[in-house]
Amino acid sequence: MTLTDHFGRSITYLRISVTDRCNLRCVYCLPEKGIEWQARENQLSAEEIARVTASMSQVGVKRIRLTGGEPLVRADIVEIVARLASIPGIEEVSLTTNAMLLEKLAQPLADAGLKRVNISLDTLDADKFKRITRGGEIDRLWRGIAAAESAHLSPIKLNTVVVNGLNADELSALARLTIENPWHVRFIELMPVGNAQNWGAGFPSLIDRYISVQEMQTRLSHYELEPAMTPTGNGPARTFQIPGALGTVGFISPLGEHFCQNCNRLRLTADGFLRPCLLLDGEVNVRGALRANEPLLPLIQNAVDAKPKGHELLSQHYPESRRMAQIGG
Ligand code: 5AD
Ligand code: SF4
Repeated sequence: MTLTDHFGRSITYLRISVTDRCNLRCVYCLPEKGIEWQARENQLSAEEIARVTASMSQVGVKRIRLTGGEPLVRADIVEIVARLASIPGIEEVSLTTNAMLLEKLAQPLADAGLKRVNISLDTLDADKFKRITRGGEIDRLWRGIAAAESAHLSPIKLNTVVVNGLNADELSALARLTIENPWHVRFIELMPVGNAQNWGAGFPSLIDRYISVQEMQTRLSHYELEPAMTPTGNGPARTFQIPGALGTVGFISPLGEHFCQNCNRLRLTADGFLRPCLLLDGEVNVRGALRANEPLLPLIQNAVDAKPKGHELLSQHYPESRRMAQIGG
């Protein structure tokens, strides 16, 4: 059996936010003082996450991505990976991380069955990294990447949220990383999700922050990027290559036209709600059914049926019920 939504898109991919907590506070994602974290008792256990995943695998979901907040702050993250990786039909478990805890965890995660990691990297400058993440150490990130490589968590993808007046001047330097490293750098348009407030002194104001992927590509035109094969699981990215490079450069445009057309996913929040769309509010509660031992498949079907054709960001209709750290990006 497979899941197909009302627009003919088949759902084969589940993104699971395992916690809303994070050990960083990136300016576009979380306020400086954090948010009111979800109550622990509402957080799904490793066993509950595995039960939802097992139900999803019965109806054709094959790939899982763990997100947060920061997934590695969960004490049982290795157990979660091990449980999910052993579910029949699940072909790939991957994870998106800020890499602050990756140096120690890369090998245990790989041993538990994790296939690869996406790492957030918005700047190459140590001071700017500290400012954007509000306290992160870029050296820990580089050590995390090295550990991921040793543990064969590859190919490594690096996610850059591009913000005008903050890191848009580093596109060229970030793309250059792909020449000698088999890494996939993906430039992501800033999404207007829970981040409209002032980010503090020295950060661009709301109207100055946005830069489109078209503008990013123009700024990288000196590389003469050529279309490239899309690495597995590159989802909404359009992928290019600097001629002769080992890695690729991708662009993700949530505000552009093609983002929703190929959407193949559902999201599960840390407190047990299936979210049909990242960019539209509206969720299906599965925690209640999980804890009452009721069947999950009808709820999964409801969530698939509720998938919209597309988001409404361009009509200034922004989701407000959750922050990015509570959805998992
Ligand atoms: N716009 C785009 N991407 C975002 N992320 C977090 N907030 C935003 C946003 N407002 C992405 C970051 C990070 C991942 C966890 O979520 O790229 O890599
Ligand atoms: Fe944490 Fe990731 Fe949000 Fe940064 S973007 S605050 S690392 S969840």
